[in-house]
Amino acid sequence: MPLPKDPKVLVGLDTSDDAGVYQLNDEVALVQTVDFFTPIVDDPFTFGQVAVANALSDVYAMGGTPLTGMNLVAFPIKTLSPSILKEILLGGLSKMVEAGVALVGGHSIEDPEIKYGLAVTGVIHPKKILTNAKAKVGDKLVLTKPLGTGIIATALKGGVASEEAVRKIVESMVTLNRTASEWMKKFGAHACTDITGFSFIGHALEMATASQVGMTIQTEAVPVFPEAMEYAKLGLIPGGAYSNRDFFSCRVDLHSNVPDLLVDILYDPQTSGGLLISLPPNEAKELVATLKEEGLVHSCIVGEVVEEPPGKIRLL
Ligand code: CO
Ligand code: CO
Ligand code: CO
Repeated sequence: MPLPKDPKVLVGLDTSDDAGVYQLNDEVALVQTVDFFTPIVDDPFTFGQVAVANALSDVYAMGGTPLTGMNLVAFPIKTLSPSILKEILLGGLSKMVEAGVALVGGHSIEDPEIKYGLAVTGVIHPKKILTNAKAKVGDKLVLTKPLGTGIIATALKGGVASEEAVRKIVESMVTLNRTASEWMKKFGAHACTDITGFSFIGHALEMATASQVGMTIQTEAVPVFPEAMEYAKLGLIPGGAYSNRDFFSCRVDLHSNVPDLLVDILYDPQTSGGLLISLPPNEAKELVATLKEEGLVHSCIVGEVVEEPPGKIRLL
């Protein structure tokens, strides 16, 4: 789109970043983002929690503080009980309360398919914005949540996911990225993004491209839900994973030792995934240790930022 230049737009559409940032004055900029989707779990309260944790994540990925939220609701009010809608909204509200975010409004429409999400407004210091564009050669890459939520959600839809697998992804998806965001700022992160629909590889590539660097990923180190490997073996792979692979694989150099099932998981679209953080090696180690103490036990260094080739990823 032919967007007019506006010096107050500090982060706009050009770098595929997580949220938009608009400067108000020397001290304060607005951070804005919106996300909504169809249910990926059966329990309405849990779905509300996941949707809000997911929507807030783009603010946390940039190092911002979310302040207000507005509900986006599509619901078949003539065919489904309003009590289901109430549970979804209560689930969402519970996450807003946990995040210290005030619900200030929203909008609903009648729709044959349920959809829920949140428009979020937050603040950030204009000089402390973490985008995906400043990863530096020599940085380590930290990932804060395991991968495989898309595959396990697909297995759930197919009626084959174990209760344990669903419990694990729900626990992960409802976890706010707030703690990870606060600590990455303290440890001087250079760049960050959150892992969502474009998969680990897609979002890592966005960072590599925006930062004009390459990345090497130690695939064995990448945290993965074990059940996701199991279900991937059964072919329970969401369509989005194939689109991601089609779209991104031309910029991925794949070492022959990497198991194909693991590659499927690296292309798996995530819901409310973790943060991918680029920061210097010592700080990366300390960040991982701190996040584990804080309960983000799957946090781990998964690779490093290299000079060549820019905009590409090597999977080892
Ligand atoms: Co994002
Ligand atoms: Co988003
Ligand atoms: Co209105």
